[in-house]
Amino acid sequence: MRNICVIGVGYVGLVTGTCFADLGNRVVALDINEERIANLKQGILPIYEPGLEEMVKRNVAAGRLDFTTSYAEALRGADFAFIAVGTPEGVDGEADLQYVRAAAESIAENMTQPLIIVNKSTVPVGTGDWVADIVRAKQPRPIAFSVVSCPEFLAEGSALSDFMNPARIVLGSTDREAANQVADLHLSLRAPIVVTDLRTAEMIKYASNAFLATKISFINEIANICEALGADVKEVAAGMGYDPRIGKHFLNAGLGWGGSCFPKDVRALAYMATVQGKHPQLLQSVMDINKYQRRQAVLKTREMLGGLKGKTIGLFGLAFKPNTDDMRDAPSVEIARALQAEGALVKGYDPVAMHAAERMMPGVAMCASAYEVAEGADAVIVCTEWNEFKQLDLARIKQSMRQPVLVDGRNLYDAKRMQDLGFQYRGMGRG
Ligand code: UDX
Repeated sequence: MRNICVIGVGYVGLVTGTCFADLGNRVVALDINEERIANLKQGILPIYEPGLEEMVKRNVAAGRLDFTTSYAEALRGADFAFIAVGTPEGVDGEADLQYVRAAAESIAENMTQPLIIVNKSTVPVGTGDWVADIVRAKQPRPIAFSVVSCPEFLAEGSALSDFMNPARIVLGSTDREAANQVADLHLSLRAPIVVTDLRTAEMIKYASNAFLATKISFINEIANICEALGADVKEVAAGMGYDPRIGKHFLNAGLGWGGSCFPKDVRALAYMATVQGKHPQLLQSVMDINKYQRRQAVLKTREMLGGLKGKTIGLFGLAFKPNTDDMRDAPSVEIARALQAEGALVKGYDPVAMHAAERMMPGVAMCASAYEVAEGADAVIVCTEWNEFKQLDLARIKQSMRQPVLVDGRNLYDAKRMQDLGFQYRGMGRG
């Protein structure tokens, strides 16, 4: 059992803190947002993540997990302080480090015993050294500390299982003993542990996300070529994926990547490269392809309907991916805006993201179900591949639509079956 303080109860901090508590540690999670902490104390979570609410409540009840807004309280007796605050995007694509700075300063001012500071937030290469400089400068009196980078690789919707079954743990530090102590915290997870220097660990995170985004943009480019040549990208991806050098994951063609990580991290990596006088051409193309991919859904719908003005278009799914209520950089937002700009009426439904979506999609009529979305629509676009859309009564959907046009942005449905049902169906890259 170790004493852990986690700073920031956003996605990463809350999952990390709760999982460490579940592994038997004593965790105090801190946030400067009083409302969030007050809610958490009552068992109300700021995010939707399958299984998390139950795990939070169980660990609070067992006395292993607590929430506070006080640094002094959070750091009392702590062996580790995990920084998991947000790093929003600055104007040029660089990461905005104001919250990391504030956390480092507050740690320095409130720590009373030797401490290992672990950076979980995705931060530009070199930030670990910068955090160490801040803490050293702000300490009222010198107390020993080390900084270890331990980037997170949690995907929303499967974050608990990603934490408990990691593909690897990456640790970066100049202090080998400190890195070993953080490694000990993860030993029961039985994952490969990579120990390296701070900057390399920070780079592993960016390179991993950029590679995954590249894989998706690659298959989306192939999808567009497939479409022109009459091949089916789903089968192309399956055929490629059997090769272990390629792998089957992240080869789903569709509307491309969104969310809180890929867009921000790819841009931040490109920015870091540019500042160093490098030309990140591949990263630029990866981003361009992603942007173009979203537009595809609108172009296809316009083409199939012979224009969008006055048409009613329904969106199945609004979140950036299934099993989350996260709307950050969700393709649905851009698609709705583009449809509205061409004079279409847009309505939408999402199993969990409706609340967040309402604020981000002005003028979009929110419906209570996929059936309500389809009712009287000239076309439906599948934006998010939620499981509940897989088993819909498609005959009923078709019947209720004004025109049976379905643009499947996530290749959720079987093209042949849709045609047999009488839909005018277009997927992504399914020639
Ligand atoms: C990602 C990384 O997976 C995770 O390791 C990192 O810590 C944070 O960023 P997340 O953004 O939650 O996690 O979602 P992920 O499942 O990776 O999907 C990212 C985006 O790519 C989604 O918009 C998804 O729809 C899209 N995607 C994913 C595809 O378009 N095709 C695929 O084959 C896979």
